[in-house]
Amino acid sequence: MSRLLVLSTSTRTVSNGRAFARWVADAAGGHEAFDVEFTDLGELALPLLDEPEYASTGIYTHQHTRDWSAIAGAADAFVFVMPMYNGGFTAPLKNALDHLYQEWQGKPVGLVSYSAGDSGGAPAAEMLLPVLARLGLRPAQRRLAVPAIHSLVSEGAFAPSEGLDGELAVLLDELAKLTLDENLA
Ligand SMILES: Cc1cc2nc3c(=O)[nH]c(=O)nc-3n(C[C@H](O)[C@H](O)[C@H](O)COP(=O)(O)O)c2cc1C
Repeated sequence: MSRLLVLSTSTRTVSNGRAFARWVADAAGGHEAFDVEFTDLGELALPLLDEPEYASTGIYTHQHTRDWSAIAGAADAFVFVMPMYNGGFTAPLKNALDHLYQEWQGKPVGLVSYSAGDSGGAPAAEMLLPVLARLGLRPAQRRLAVPAIHSLVSEGAFAPSEGLDGELAVLLDELAKLTLDENLA
């Protein structure tokens, strides 16, 4: 079994995406290829990058960076559940990525975006691709973009739109294959 980290990347206290990300983690837990861990960047509460050394050195002086390194480093693959803010990816996600380096290298990542509007945050996922490439992450071709996220979350519970579980399964299958390729390499 590969270890999959599902990362909820909103840090807002009223995040709609948190419930969605938990639903993604639960669904991924049913996939035969993965042992799933869930991390909420809101709970992790990383400060803005304050390490004196470049992450590529692996020298981390702060406990919060070491903790984050242990979580990400233990994963074989990732799913980033990411909102779109003002047409792009969010600062907390970029900050979490910038904190580490070696922990990302060569690992597959699935992008699951969402937004209030019709795009489902697809532009934010697209915008993230060059950043992922710089960190050696390998994004799955298949991406999920969920529009009108507000309409799917009620009292902290996420109710998927029709067909969403099937779309997620396709992404997870691709991620499982990419993870297998990585382990064989
Ligand atoms: C700072 C900010 C900027 C936003 N910009 C957009 C946007 O460009 N397009 C869009 O469709 N929704 C936008 N939204 C709405 C969010 O997609 C929606 O509120 C979503 O629930 C945010 O995720 P979160 O609740 O998990 O933080 C924005 C929300 C915030 C807080």
